[in-house]
Amino acid sequence: MDIDTTPAIWGAMRARQGRDTASTEGFARMLATCLDLGIDWIDHADIYDDGAVEALHGEAARTLSGGDRSRLRVISKCGVRFASPGQPGVRLHHYRADAAWLQQQAEASLARLGTERIDLYLLHRPDYLMRAEETARALEDLISSGKIAACGVSNFSAHQVETLAAAGNLALAANQIELSPFHTAPLDNGQIDQARRLGLAVLAWSPLGGQRLFNADDEVSCRVRDCLYAMRARLPDDHGIDALALAWSRRLGAIPILGTASRDRLERQVREMYAIEMDVQDWYEILEAARGVRVP
Ligand SMILES: NC(=O)c1ccc[n+]([C@@H]2O[C@H](COP(=O)([O-])OP(=O)(O)OC[C@H]3O[C@@H](n4cnc5c(N)ncnc54)[C@H](OP(=O)(O)O)[C@@H]3O)[C@@H](O)[C@H]2O)c1
Repeated sequence: MDIDTTPAIWGAMRARQGRDTASTEGFARMLATCLDLGIDWIDHADIYDDGAVEALHGEAARTLSGGDRSRLRVISKCGVRFASPGQPGVRLHHYRADAAWLQQQAEASLARLGTERIDLYLLHRPDYLMRAEETARALEDLISSGKIAACGVSNFSAHQVETLAAAGNLALAANQIELSPFHTAPLDNGQIDQARRLGLAVLAWSPLGGQRLFNADDEVSCRVRDCLYAMRARLPDDHGIDALALAWSRRLGAIPILGTASRDRLERQVREMYAIEMDVQDWYEILEAARGVRVP
């Protein structure tokens, strides 16, 4: 799997709320822009707007040229359930990782995405009731039937990854985790170290803290924002503070999943992020701002 070579992933979670991406034509233009920027990987989940985002991708991808369509790589996730019109009978948040659920959801995602294969299929959250051997076998079956090319996890602790990896002959390809200056726990909780040791790609969700970088006024957000503005003023090139935050994740070896639904913003963020080689002291300065304490 070539996910390690992509500089970033576009996350489609907010696409139906975005002015540029809510329509089929707009979404198709966003996909084309991603490909132009060298971003072949698009992140989805069965729950994003109850499957409507995957369906939008499917409709949009059909309008692209065959060449562009074949370059697109799709990530999808399953396993999260919550009360919503698209999930009848569900009365509270819970998780599922049993074989029947994985099979059913993978097939539903394939149909909506209009593709024969999902390039990377992730368990969205750890199911505490997971029988690891059954789940591992289900993922292996999806790979051997050609429905998915590779599998991985999301929001799994290092121990949970170990349990699943030990349960079968699975080569887990990625752990998709929250990682940004607003969420630095993975530096110390084993997730980053384990990914390096096992060769898992670290896919960083909410790399800008959702919208915290721009509009939150809690102490951490203010400190991070002030630090990034000061850094931006000091650096020779004019980068947005968003690009600096993205470069922070990249410096760790993570692949940021960009959540913007604006084409212009995506183009600028990616162009500026590519241009930043974050200096080690700048990286630690952002960490210090994030945590409010110096490293000892
Ligand atoms: N595995 C999981 O559990 C999990 C959880 C959450 C998300 N995800 C994935 O991660 C992806 C990214 O997450 P995210 O959307 O939270 O990422 P994010 O990039 O941290 O945040 C995106 C949000 O920030 C806004 N934004 C970006 N640049 C901005 C700027 N310069 N000024 C003002 N606002 C700006 C965007 O608004 P505009 O659209 O207006 O630019 C959007 O609302 C999702 O699409 C999804 O694929 C996975």
